[in-house]
Formats: sequence, structure tokens, C-alpha cells
Amino acid sequence: MSGSDGVTGALVLAAGKGTRMKSTLPKVLLPVLDQPILYYVLRALEKLKDAPGGQVGSVAVVVGHKGEMVRDYLSGEWGSAVPIWQHEQLGTGHAVQIAKEWWAGLDHLLILPGDVPLLRSETLAELVSDHKISGADCSFISFHASNPFGYGRVVRSGDGMSIVEEKDASEEQKLLSEVNSGIYIFRISSLLPHIYRLDNENSQGEYYLPDIISMMIRSGMNVRATLAGDENEFRGINTPRQLADVVALVRSEIVEGHLASGVRMMDPSSVWIGPKVSMGEDVSLDPFVQIWGETTIKRGCRIGGFSILRNMDLEEDVHVVSHAVLSGSILQKSAKAGPFIVIRDGACLEEGAQGGKFVEIKKSVLGKGSKAPHLSYLGDAVIGEGTNIGAGTITCNYDGEKKNSTVIGNRCFVGSDTMFVAPVTLEDDASTAAGSVITQNVPEGALAVGRARQRNIEGWAQRKRKKANEGGDRN
Ligand code: UD1
Ligand code: CA
Repeated sequence: MSGSDGVTGALVLAAGKGTRMKSTLPKVLLPVLDQPILYYVLRALEKLKDAPGGQVGSVAVVVGHKGEMVRDYLSGEWGSAVPIWQHEQLGTGHAVQIAKEWWAGLDHLLILPGDVPLLRSETLAELVSDHKISGADCSFISFHASNPFGYGRVVRSGDGMSIVEEKDASEEQKLLSEVNSGIYIFRISSLLPHIYRLDNENSQGEYYLPDIISMMIRSGMNVRATLAGDENEFRGINTPRQLADVVALVRSEIVEGHLASGVRMMDPSSVWIGPKVSMGEDVSLDPFVQIWGETTIKRGCRIGGFSILRNMDLEEDVHVVSHAVLSGSILQKSAKAGPFIVIRDGACLEEGAQGGKFVEIKKSVLGKGSKAPHLSYLGDAVIGEGTNIGAGTITCNYDGEKKNSTVIGNRCFVGSDTMFVAPVTLEDDASTAAGSVITQNVPEGALAVGRARQRNIEGWAQRKRKKANEGGDRN
């Protein structure tokens, strides 16, 4: 970083209770699609690290209400973000005060709320670089809100400017539609002399950070309000209604992004895709598909309707037929799954393998070209190549204490309704007779018959009828 640019850090304010959400989760951890609100803000900051001119080196997050949960989320997902404790939430200005030790050594401080998930990193990059080029003491973003309720209004008068919170605004001020986005960048040397001058003499008894704006202007400092065009980007989330509105916007933004990059959707309005999903070209999604987590779908895959995928890896040309629930597993090239299938917990369908109707595959490998077309439970199993698993086959993997594994070789033929009492092994080219309960290993090429021999009792129905008639006479 060059000396003239100066070192910039970002402080995310995320200690508030989010009273209006009425949730037991801290507000910034409430999900927008499958990621917390805070994820989106931190992602925008992360992208900023590479943005030309707008570099932000370090990131800290002010935590407080249910702060342990926010801290745990940070350490799990954003190891480099520093949590700073604000034990009592006395306002946004107070949050900046208590973090002073962290920011005092920087040259510029970007401050943003943790509840604005639609914020784009390009917008932040522009704010940071314009601020530095202009040499301003403070730059912040304002925008025109079609419904300004709840936001701090930007009140301009002559050369002066101040921000008045909803709860402190006069009827006349409430009519103003230019509002504060809550996103600011300060030159540290200009922030320091003012941040402790804030008071809490307002309707909420809080130390409002926005009060610093008029204070700085009064002492002759250069404060720039950049009026942004798109109000959606700065939507804060304070109520369940606002959360739902933001979810709808994020959802459609993600869907549009995939459409633009060559994913086809018969009905985009019914498709839900999380922010960490990546898809190749020539992928097609049927109506009512949900794709979550860190799912990767490569070129040419087709996903049938009502399927839910989470943390899945799909190689080229995989076909997921409808109503599949797939998680934490791999489908290799040209594999086929469904309809009505559950694949989970580290399962792998190798190239061209098929799991069919009413099949559950857990922590198992189905080898290249192998098939389990109907009604099976395969758990803790390793199945070789070119093997056929008959309808109704079950790996009895749980003995009441632990999970045991079933090993099935290449080119095996497993008869319908076979029970594999694990641990057990079926070697290459072996077969099982339908209805067998397999409790012992089966050697290569053998047929295992593990069922009672059939016996036909001639004339049984006739004798039964006769007996019934005799009984009837007695009544
Ligand atoms: C704030 C601004 C308002 C602006 C709006 C934009 C203030 C006083 N008002 O209002 O001018 O239009 O954002 O969305 O700043 N927080 C803390 N510690 C606290 C209080 C809040 O960390 O003691 C955090 C919250 O978790 C939240 C952020 O600061 O992420 C903003 O607080 P919030 O209560 O949502 O402020 P708004 O009423 O939306
Ligand atoms: Ca807010």
C-alpha cells in the first residue's frame, strides 16, 4: 500500500439486538437464503481486498448481543475478521468508540452496518477511492428511499448537513426521502477528535454515530455525502418484512447471474440457489429445484423438479431425475440419480453409476457403471464396477452399537431383497439368490443362497375349508 493512499480497515457494526426481528438469533446471523446476513457483508469486504484503489486491509466486527454466536460464526468462516466486544449496546457511535484501540493506528476507517446484505463491493471500492482522492475528512453514502421510514434522514441547510433519526425527526423532516445508508469512511485523524464528543441526548438515549456528521461540518471539516442511485443496495434489515424483501432480491440476483452465465431454467421464479453455488454452462434446472451450500454443478447436468441439493459435487452430464434429496456427496460424470432418492454423507456415484427409485445411499461408493435401480438402502458400503443391486436390497449396517461395512466386488449380481448383515464381503463376480440374508463372506464367482428352502403343502386350502365348515356346524 502506498503512503499517500494510507492503510484502510473496515469496521462492521453487528452488536445490536435486532429487537424488531423478535428472534432468538442475533440479527446478523439470520439467514438470507442459506447464509447469514453477515456473510454477504463480509463477502463484499473480502472482494474489496482485490479491488483497484479501494483496498481494505483488515476487517473487525463489533459483536455484543449473543456475541458468542457471532464470534463462533466468524472464527468458523472468516478467520481473519477480528471480533470486538461491545458488552452494552449503547448505540452505533458507542460501538465505534469501544473499537478505538483496533482502528486508531489506521489512516482511514470504513464503517458499515452488518445488516445490509445487498451491498456491492464495487460501491464500497468507489467510496473508498473517491474519499482518498478527494482528501475528505469523511465520506458517506446517502440515497433516496421510496419508503424512508426507519432510516436517518439527511437534512441539508445551506452549507450545513445533519442526520436526524426517525424517532427524533419532526413531521417535516420525516417527509425527506434522502437517507443515511449507514456506510461511512473517515480519515482517522479527523475521526479521533470527534468520536468522544457524541452524546446520548436523543429519544433513544443512544450514542448515534451519524451525529458526528454535523459536528465535523461545524468544525470546518470536509464531509462528502455521495448520493447513490440504487436504493435496494442499501436496504437494512430491521423487521421480518424487510428480511423477506431482501431474500427475494438476493434470490433473484443469484438466479439472474446463473441465467446470464448459461444455466437454463424452465421456471426461474421457482428455483432457489444459494450464494455459494457454482454451475457450468449448459446446465438445466427444472421447476422447483433448490441448490444450497457449496454445491458445484459442471457442464451438461440436468436437475429434475423438486430436487434439493446441498454441498454436492456433480461432474459433467449428471442427470438428477425429479424429487432427489442429495447432500454432501459426489456424482461423477454421467451418473444418474432418482426419482425419489436420498444420497448423503459422503456417498459417491462413480462414472455412469445409477441410483434409482426409492433408494437411499449413505456414505457408500457405487462403482463405475453399477446400478441400484429400485428400493434399496446402501449404507457404509463399497460397491465395485458393473455390479447390479436388485430391488429391495438392504445393507444391515447397524448392529445397535456401531456401523459396519459391506464390500461388494465388481460385476456382482445381487438378487432382489438381499439383506447384507455387515460386516460382510461379496467378492468379484459373485451373486446372491433373491431373498437371501447374507451373513458370511461370499467367495469370487459363487452364488450365495441364504434363505429357507421352499416346501409346497399339497391340498392345504381344501383341508382348511373343510375344517372351517365343521366348526360352523357346532355354532
Ligand atoms: C442506522 C443509522 C441510520 C441509517 C441506518 C441505515 C444510527 C443511529 N442510525 O439506523 O441513520 O439510516 O442505520 O441502515 O446509526 N449496532 C451495534 N451496536 C449498537 C447499536 C447498533 O453494533 O450499540 C449495529 C447493529 O447491529 C446494526 C448496525 O449497528 O448492524 C445499525 O444499527 P441499527 O439499530 O440497525 O440502526 P438503524 O436504526 O437501522
Ligand atoms: Ca439497520
